[in-house]
Amino acid sequence: MNSDQINKRFHQIVPGGSHTYSKGDDQFPANAPKIMSHAKGAECWDIEGKRFIDWAMGNRVMILGHAFDEVDDQVCAAIRKGTNFTRPGILEYELAEYLVGLWPCAEMVKFGKNGSDVTTAAVKLSRAYTGRKYVLVCSSHPFFAIHDWFIGSTEMNSGTLDTERQYTLKFKYNDIESVEQAFDQYPGQIAAVILEPVKNDSPYAEPRDSDYTVEGISRNGDNNTNFLKYLREKTEATGTVLIFDENIAGMRFDIRGSHHRYGIYPDLAAFGKAIANGYSCSVLAGKRELMELGGIHHDKERVFLLSQTHGSETVGLSATLATLKACDRLNVTSHVWSLGGRMKARVKDAISKNSLNDHVKIIGFDANPQILCTKANGDFWPELHTLFHQYMVDKGILIPWISITHSHNDEHLNYTVEAIEETGAKLRSVISNDAVSKELIGDAVKPVFRKWNN
Ligand SMILES: Cc1ncc(COP(=O)(O)O)c(C=O)c1O
Repeated sequence: MNSDQINKRFHQIVPGGSHTYSKGDDQFPANAPKIMSHAKGAECWDIEGKRFIDWAMGNRVMILGHAFDEVDDQVCAAIRKGTNFTRPGILEYELAEYLVGLWPCAEMVKFGKNGSDVTTAAVKLSRAYTGRKYVLVCSSHPFFAIHDWFIGSTEMNSGTLDTERQYTLKFKYNDIESVEQAFDQYPGQIAAVILEPVKNDSPYAEPRDSDYTVEGISRNGDNNTNFLKYLREKTEATGTVLIFDENIAGMRFDIRGSHHRYGIYPDLAAFGKAIANGYSCSVLAGKRELMELGGIHHDKERVFLLSQTHGSETVGLSATLATLKACDRLNVTSHVWSLGGRMKARVKDAISKNSLNDHVKIIGFDANPQILCTKANGDFWPELHTLFHQYMVDKGILIPWISITHSHNDEHLNYTVEAIEETGAKLRSVISNDAVSKELIGDAVKPVFRKWNN
């Protein structure tokens, strides 16, 4: 069967024809590869043998590159020694010891398999610790977990309960007023504040310097304040748990967590995605006082914290240990920032050459850039976005989002910038002729979180 035939059959036997909504047909142009065969380094191939430069790296799950030998060798060695034991394995201890040494925010750690495992565990732990019900979630960030405390609060909340979503409140990034409002409305009732410390979406990128007063302490006119510091002080003053979701930012900004760059440390942090370079592992890290509630040596009420059949499975654990050690040794953080910086500068240039500045933008931090297609008023333009990617796919480039890895180099960048320049020239003429929709060979992309399919 070819890709089209498999894709059709796939939708008959797997709802959505994929296991992640963001990999679905409605997120890509119609010419995007439908079924992948294999990947190595910064490249991947579909089952017809067409090769692509891959800037997306699955759902941002690589930091070293696809099929990275050093990690895979460690995983193979671990597999041969047995993958899951009747009592804790030595790798569980070794990884835990390594992480509490590496991550300043980690006095204790607990392992899961997916990012959602650990964000949801953080929320539960916060509720147990504080005895409060409400969670204050950053609405500027799109996704925190597959579980109902979060999904119930989205547009796609069918099957979740009002009783679950009623305790999920929202605030906006860099908007102190929206946080204050929630705390004023629910005094002494908010268990946790959860957000990604940094995000690439403009205009929310940097935690902004702000004037504020928390519990009588005034930070007006200080240089050394920002939104994260405000949240740290506000949560401390109100006895609320501060949770940083480091699933995306964690490995890209700094392997010690993006918050480490700002010197603001949470009570709990959730790491996942690229920590295992494509294998399945996630980590809840945080303060002993909270984490210990999941233990068996205290006299407080017990908390059921991440007890999973596969939590100690050695494939993910060995991959995580090998990935972090390689990132540290190869100084991958520095490579990501520097290649990302070059990419942003050169893509901006390619866009300007085609006078497309109003419509194609590269935004975000150097470590985590994002290409955005907009109407002249700045609103997202789904048809233009789809057409941009349709042209890029034609040139053998997958760049729906950008996850720079150790395997990406200037050759990949040169080819990509050339392709963007040629794509830009085409888009310029298509926009001038008002022919964006006409040029599309399929439907425009749609938001994942929508109530109805059509
Ligand atoms: C910021 C963030 N947090 C949590 C998650 C959930 O991670 P997972 O899909 O591994 O459960 C995601 C997934 O995309 C994410 O982007």
